[in-house]
Amino acid sequence: MSENTFTKVLKPTAHLEFFKKLKRLKPLEPSYGVLGCFFVSVCLILSLFLLDYRTLGFGGQESRLISWFGLNGSAGVEERVEFLDESGDGCDIYDGDWVWDENYPLYESTDCLFLDEGFRCSENGRRDKFYTKWRWQPKNCNLPRFDAKIMLEKMRNRRVVFVGDSIGRNQWESLLCMLSSAVRNKTSIYEVNGNPITKHTGFLVYRFTDFNCTLEYYRAPFLVLQSRAPAGSPEKVRTTLKLDQMDWNSWKWRGADLLVLNSGHWWNYEKTIREGCYFQEGAEVKMEMSVESAYRRSIAKVVDWLSSEVNTSKTQVFFRSFAPVHFRGGDWKTGGSCHLETLPDLRSTSVSSETANQLRIVSEGFSKLTNTTIHSRKLDFLNVTLMSSQRKDGHASIYYLGPETGPAALHRQDCSHWCLPGIPDTWNELLYAVFLKKELAQTGNKTEHTLSPTVERK
Ligand SMILES: *[C@@H]1O[C@H](CO)[C@@H](O)[C@H](O)[C@H]1NC(C)=O
Ligand SMILES: *[C@@H]1O[C@H](CO)[C@@H](O)[C@H](O)[C@H]1NC(C)=O
Ligand SMILES: *[C@@H]1O[C@H](CO)[C@@H](O)[C@H](O)[C@H]1NC(C)=O
Ligand SMILES: *[C@@H]1O[C@H](CO)[C@@H](O)[C@H](O)[C@H]1NC(C)=O
Ligand SMILES: *[C@@H]1O[C@H](CO)[C@@H](O)[C@H](O)[C@H]1NC(C)=O
Ligand SMILES: *[C@@H]1O[C@H](CO)[C@@H](O)[C@H](O)[C@H]1NC(C)=O
Ligand SMILES: *[C@@H]1O[C@H](CO)[C@@H](O)[C@H](O)[C@H]1NC(C)=O
Repeated sequence: MSENTFTKVLKPTAHLEFFKKLKRLKPLEPSYGVLGCFFVSVCLILSLFLLDYRTLGFGGQESRLISWFGLNGSAGVEERVEFLDESGDGCDIYDGDWVWDENYPLYESTDCLFLDEGFRCSENGRRDKFYTKWRWQPKNCNLPRFDAKIMLEKMRNRRVVFVGDSIGRNQWESLLCMLSSAVRNKTSIYEVNGNPITKHTGFLVYRFTDFNCTLEYYRAPFLVLQSRAPAGSPEKVRTTLKLDQMDWNSWKWRGADLLVLNSGHWWNYEKTIREGCYFQEGAEVKMEMSVESAYRRSIAKVVDWLSSEVNTSKTQVFFRSFAPVHFRGGDWKTGGSCHLETLPDLRSTSVSSETANQLRIVSEGFSKLTNTTIHSRKLDFLNVTLMSSQRKDGHASIYYLGPETGPAALHRQDCSHWCLPGIPDTWNELLYAVFLKKELAQTGNKTEHTLSPTVERK
């Protein structure tokens, strides 16, 4: 990370500190020298302040400064349309930048009862907090501020279902925290079977009593059915993935009102063929089929299932794209690391070839369902891959073990899951934006929830 970005990051906080100190000072003796000096410093600092926030695209502060200085209209800073307005219809919300925003994070992990230990990085010893302070700013429009009350109200009597691998669970827990932050009585939110939020449960259903709604997670890293090898298979075949059948639990996903799918992190050689897991179509085990073509077929099956079994007038369907990993100098088994990363890579515009391949398989696979306008498409592709690839600073690294155990060994890092609060919160803000946009299109209420991003949250 360059020196330049580093100072950009540090300055806003430095200024804020300065102003805090300034406020505490006693009135100065009326000496011209002191007054003059004071005036010049204030001007200098304010202009730095302004420059800084201009370059950072710092939403809230910027507009306040603009009004203070009567500078409105000069630079076209706040001229983006609102995504939720009709004028925001064509906006590609995945094309944008991470901007520093003091109003983030949206919650603290200590305030969220429903968070796996593995994601509580700051409680597990991670000291730097910069990674929680970046907001996603689309180039051509503004996203609505996440408002848990609005989301919960929209979810009244409804079901939100996440299905996928543990990165999907990462995102689901993020939403659990984001929504529960608006509910005062935390005991009114509970897992319906009394299960704890541990890593290996097959599914978890959290109920928000006051809203009669559930937020559910089903573990299904392949989405299609994994089961025992058919009789008579070669000995090395221990299990198969049936590429023409959905997971056992898929009947439970079908009736969801909001369905968020993901897959990808398990579709590789290590987690399939090397483990004796081969691919099956009909009764036949395809010994020669590559992981890549099996993945393609699984996506085709999901598309088929969505088209024939899911009522997409009722169920809003999302597929979240692959979330890149950031192991450097190895992978999770061979000492790859990311624990020294504290800043994003804001200029990065490419992803690894493996990640690009994942993205291509999925976007081609779903193009049938996504190739229409936002109001009529059957599935929304949460295209988080590129934006997340810029966030090597967001992973749990060595801070995935509880505070008693302390940080993990340096050669055992987690550079695939994300700290919470953190990057998955942004995925959920995008989910929220698209969800609201479609809801508003249905009710025809365009203005009701259009919150300006300049509105203070706290
Ligand atoms: C700037 O002026 C426009 C109208 O000319 C207004 O809509 C907008 O809210 C103003 N922005 C700020 C930051 O005051
Ligand atoms: C995902 O977003 C990136 C950044 O805007 C864009 O380059 C890419 O084409 C998008 N991919 C798909 C499949 O929409
Ligand atoms: C709660 O929501 C479910 C749908 O998820 C619905 O069938 C049921 O009638 C609702 N209960 C009440 C009391 O509104
Ligand atoms: C909180 O919620 C629980 C479970 O719904 C309920 O029994 C309890 O009375 C609530 N407490 C308050 C203070 O509302
Ligand atoms: C699909 O859902 C819509 C909206 O809830 C409903 O009106 C319609 O009857 C459903 N169609 C089927 C075939 O169940
Ligand atoms: C969108 O998908 C439909 C159905 O597969 C296809 O007929 C149509 O040509 C596609 N449109 C575009 C713009 O790709
Ligand atoms: C639209 O919003 C207004 C104001 O909040 C509300 O009174 C009205 O019921 C809404 N209409 C629909 C169709 O949701």
